[in-house]
Amino acid sequence: MNRVNMDSEQNISEDARSKGKLGLILVGVSGALVAGLYAIATPFVLPALRKVCLPYVPATTKQIENVMKAIRGRKGNLIDIGSGDGRIVLAAAQNGFKSVGVELNPWLVWYSRIMARNLKLSKQAQFYRQDLWKMNTSEFDNVVIFGVSQMMSDLEDKLSKELHPHSRIVACRFPFPTWNAVDIIGEGVDTVWIYDYKCDQHRK
Ligand SMILES: C[S@@+](CC[C@H](N)C(=O)[O-])C[C@H]1O[C@@H](n2cnc3c(N)ncnc32)[C@H](O)[C@@H]1O
Ligand SMILES: *[C@@H]1O[C@H](CO)[C@@H](O)[C@H](O)[C@H]1NC(C)=O
Repeated sequence: MNRVNMDSEQNISEDARSKGKLGLILVGVSGALVAGLYAIATPFVLPALRKVCLPYVPATTKQIENVMKAIRGRKGNLIDIGSGDGRIVLAAAQNGFKSVGVELNPWLVWYSRIMARNLKLSKQAQFYRQDLWKMNTSEFDNVVIFGVSQMMSDLEDKLSKELHPHSRIVACRFPFPTWNAVDIIGEGVDTVWIYDYKCDQHRK
């Protein structure tokens, strides 16, 4: 398994680490709730109203770990576009990132805010009900997306127009079609691709 920014590992304090573990445990405990969330989330996925159907499929524990490795040592803030039940945003907040989740489904936004409050992360982890296609991501240093393959080309175009030269994009499960990943972490459904946005590399 690849490791990113090994040398900056010490940047993460022991405190953040232990909080991270606690968070993962809590996300695990809430697994039963996920079944309930599926039930209320599914009716909101109305393909006719969307560019593509992007269903609620929560990241696995392994996938969250891979995303955390992908942003290890990075500075600044983070956004998860299509944040689901908020698990990636909360894990990033536990690792010291000022984090934002945007999510179309109001129930999932509501659930994420409750989880943030339970974990005492309401300041570091914020959730908004917003369409990711209408969200301007330009102010974010780290952008996470767990999408579906059919949307990645459109998303590549969109992010190319707005991100700044030092942004890092982390794609879960499905890679972008034309960008070159600087690193790939994990395998199978938990694979994450890392793209470092450089002025000359991605602009079309
Ligand atoms: C595959 S899930 C990933 C959830 C979360 N990022 C994770 O990894 O656990 C995608 C999420 O995007 C949400 N979504 C779908 N279309 C969206 C849109 N246009 N704007 C914002 N969120 C959207 C879905 O409701 C779903 O919760
Ligand atoms: C996004 O916001 C930035 C900074 O405010 C702005 O320069 C840019 O034009 C915006 N992009 C789009 C596509 O709205």
